[in-house]
Amino acid sequence: MDKQSIIKSFETHVSAGKAAFFKKYGMDFVMGQRDGAWIHDMDGNKRLFNCHSNGGVFNLGHRNQEIIDTLRSALDDLDIGNHHFMSQERSALAQQITSTMPDDLNVCIFSVGGGEAVDLALKLACGHTGRSKIISATGGFHGHTGLALTVGDAQYRDAFGIDATNKLQVPFNDAEALAHALDSDVAAVILETIPATLGMVMPEDGYLEKVRALCDTNGTLLIMDEIQSGLGRTGKLWAFEHAGITPDMVVIGKGLSGGIYPIAATIIREPLDTIFQNDPFIHISTYGGSELGCRVAHKVIQISGDTIFLDRVQEAGQKVREGLEVILEKYPRFFTGIRQNGLMIGLELRDEYGGPALTKAAYDQDLLLVYANNDTSVSQFLLPLTITNEEIDLVMDKLDKAMNAARKLRTALIAKEKSNGILKRFSGKKA
Ligand SMILES: Cc1ncc(COP(=O)(O)O)c(C=O)c1O
Repeated sequence: MDKQSIIKSFETHVSAGKAAFFKKYGMDFVMGQRDGAWIHDMDGNKRLFNCHSNGGVFNLGHRNQEIIDTLRSALDDLDIGNHHFMSQERSALAQQITSTMPDDLNVCIFSVGGGEAVDLALKLACGHTGRSKIISATGGFHGHTGLALTVGDAQYRDAFGIDATNKLQVPFNDAEALAHALDSDVAAVILETIPATLGMVMPEDGYLEKVRALCDTNGTLLIMDEIQSGLGRTGKLWAFEHAGITPDMVVIGKGLSGGIYPIAATIIREPLDTIFQNDPFIHISTYGGSELGCRVAHKVIQISGDTIFLDRVQEAGQKVREGLEVILEKYPRFFTGIRQNGLMIGLELRDEYGGPALTKAAYDQDLLLVYANNDTSVSQFLLPLTITNEEIDLVMDKLDKAMNAARKLRTALIAKEKSNGILKRFSGKKA
C-alpha cells in the first residue's frame, strides 16, 4: 500500500483525530525502516533521530541485534507458555531481576504492559493493608488501565466518567503536603522516581527518603514506578538507588521489552506475597510473563545491568550536558534550564508553547522530540542509552538549529492557538 492509502486507512480505521493532528502540523510520518537511533518514514524521504526512545522502550535502540538474536533463538524452543504452570523462564527472569533489587524485594510478578503492572501493585497494596486510599503526585503518570488511570491526572479520566474516589494527589517534592494527606486509610503512595510526563522533575535531595520515612510511620506502602527512570536511564540500574531507599514495590516496563517483545513486572517485598500464598490463582495475566518475553527481558537486564554500560550512560550524560549548556547560553530567553540525571533529561522552555514549538522545529531538523504532556513547557529528552559520541555531536548540532527555529514557531503557535485552541487540549492549561 502506498503512504497516502495507509494514512487514509489509519484515519478511517484507527484514529481520525491523530491523522488530523499530524497532518495539521506537517508531521505525516509513517514508520517504515528502523535501526539503532533512527526511524525512517516509509516513503524513504525522511528519517528521525529518536530523542524520545518511547519513554525508554528503545533504551537499547531500535531493533537491537542482541535482542533480535535472543528472540530468534527463543523461538526455536519456546512460545508464550502456560500462565498456570510453573516456568523455568519466568523463574530465571524473576531471580535475575530481584537479584538487582535491595533487601527483601524478592518476588516478581509479570504483566504485559506498565499499566497492568501498576494496577497489580495498587490492588495488592489495598489487599495487603486493608486500606482503600492511594496517594500519587499531581501531574504524575502511571498508565491508562483501570487503577493506574485513577492515580493519574483527571484530564485523562474525566471524558470517560471514571471515578477516582479515595485517590488523592499531592505535589511532587512536597513532603509536607504528603504528611498532611496521609492518614490511617492510606494503603500506598505511588510515585515515579522522576516524573516523566510532568517533565523530568528531579527529586530534591532528601525528598524520597522523607517519603519513605512518612510511609513507614503511617504503615503505608511505597510503590516506585521505574517504568521510565529504570533500566539504566540514570546511570544506575534503578533510579531509586540514588536515594538509597527500599520501596515496598517497584514497577518496571517499557525498556524491559528491548523494544521487541512487550513485558512488564511488579517486584514486591516478600511479606506482600501472603495474599498470593493464600490463593495463588487470585491474579492472572494470560500473556504476562510470556516465556519468549522472559528470554528477551533477561537479555535486556544482562546488558543494562553491566557496570561498563552504566558508566557509559553517565559519561554520555556528561557529554550531552556540555552540549546543552552551549545551546542554553545561545537562546536563554527560550531555552531556560536543564533537568538531568544521567540520560534522563528534561529541557525547560520559556512557557507552555515551548514544548510543542520545539517538537515541530526538531521534527523539521530530523529529531524526534516529545514534550511532556503534563507540563508542555518541558521537552522530554530521552536519548538511546546506546548513543555514541558522534551521534551526540550530530544531535546537538540539530538541536541548536531546532531551538533557534522554535523561538519563531512559538510565536506562530500562539497565534494559531488563539484561533483554534488545540494546545489547551494537550496541556490542560489556559493560553
Ligand atoms: C511512568 C509510567 N508509568 C506507567 C506507564 C504505563 O505503561 P504502559 O503504557 O506500558 O501501560 C507509563 C507509560 O508511558 C509511564 O511512563
